[in-house]
Amino acid sequence: MQAKNQKIVVLGTGGTIAGVSASAIEGLAYKAAQRGIDNLLEVALGHQQHWPRALSNCQFDSEQVAQLDSKDMDFETWIHLAQRCEHWLSQSDVTGLVITHGTDTLEETAYFLSQVLSSAKPIVLTCAMRPANFEGADGPQNLRDALLVAASTHSLGVCLVAAGEIHHSRYVQKIHPTRLNAFDSGETGLAGRVHNDQVQWLDTFNTPNTLAKLRVTQLLPAAQWPWVEIVMNHVNASELHIDALVQAGVKGLVVAGTGNGSMNSNLKAGLETAQKAGVEVRLATRCNQGAVVPTENHYFDASSGLSPVKTRVALLLDMMSQLQSH
Ligand code: SIN
Repeated sequence: MQAKNQKIVVLGTGGTIAGVSASAIEGLAYKAAQRGIDNLLEVALGHQQHWPRALSNCQFDSEQVAQLDSKDMDFETWIHLAQRCEHWLSQSDVTGLVITHGTDTLEETAYFLSQVLSSAKPIVLTCAMRPANFEGADGPQNLRDALLVAASTHSLGVCLVAAGEIHHSRYVQKIHPTRLNAFDSGETGLAGRVHNDQVQWLDTFNTPNTLAKLRVTQLLPAAQWPWVEIVMNHVNASELHIDALVQAGVKGLVVAGTGNGSMNSNLKAGLETAQKAGVEVRLATRCNQGAVVPTENHYFDASSGLSPVKTRVALLLDMMSQLQSH
C-alpha cells in the first residue's frame, strides 16, 4: 500500500455548513452549528474508493475547535482557533489545514488568521450557504474542494474556497445574503478555481505580501483587547454617537467613509475630537470595491484597501502590538 505522505487537519467551528433545518427542502430557516466536524468530513469524502486522485496520498485528522453560528464569533474563539492552528501547523507531518466556518464573519476570521499565523502551509477556510441536511447542500462539495486546495503544493497563505472559487483572505468579502456563490474578491478577482476535482490557479492573480502583524503567543487575553468600533458616513451623519463612544471608553474607531473616504463635517468634527482625546482613527470606504486613495484633504490614516471590518481587525492588532511594546 502506498504511504500517505500528506496530512491535512480539518478544524470545525460551526456555521451553516454544520447547520440543520427542519426539512431537506428548507434552505434558509435552520439552526447553524449542529453537526460535528467528523460527520462533515465523512460526508464530503465518501468512501476512499471515490476520493479524487489528488487526495489519494492524504490522511486526515480533525478537531472540533468551536461550534457556533459565526455571527457570534468572538475574541476568545479567535484566540483558541489561532492557537489550535499554530499547534497543528508546527507538526512536521501536517501539510495543510482546512477550517469550516460560518459565512457571515468568515472574511474577518480569515483576515485575522492571516495576520497572526506565518506558516508557508496552506490554510483554507470553507463554508456553505445551505444547511447540511438540505437536498443538494453545497457544504460537502465546498469541503472536498477545500481539501483539494489544502493538498495542492501552491500556498496562498490563508484563503477561502467556496462555490468552486478560491479567494485570498485579504480581498474576499461576502457580498450576497442568500445565493450559493456569496463571496467576491472585487477588482482583484479570484486566485483560482476548483472544477471537477481539479485545482486551477489563475496566472493573473498576484499573491499579496501578507506578513503576520503579531505572533499567536503575543495575543492578549480577550478581555484585554482594545475596544474598536466601526462608524459610517451617510446622509445627515451625526457626531453624537462618536461622542457617546468616547465617553464610554472606546479606544479605536474605523470610519467607513463615503466614496474616497469622505465624511460630512459633523462626523469629521466628532472624529477629530475623538482623535485628540487619544482614540485611534482609521479610514476605509463603504464602497465595496477599491481602496481609499489618500489626498491632502484626508485627515485620518487610510486603510490600504482593506474593507471596514478588516480595517478593524488590522487596527485591533496594531493597537495590541503597541500595547506590548510599552
Ligand atoms: C454563520 O455564519 O454561521 C451562519 C450563516 C452561514 O454560515 O451561512
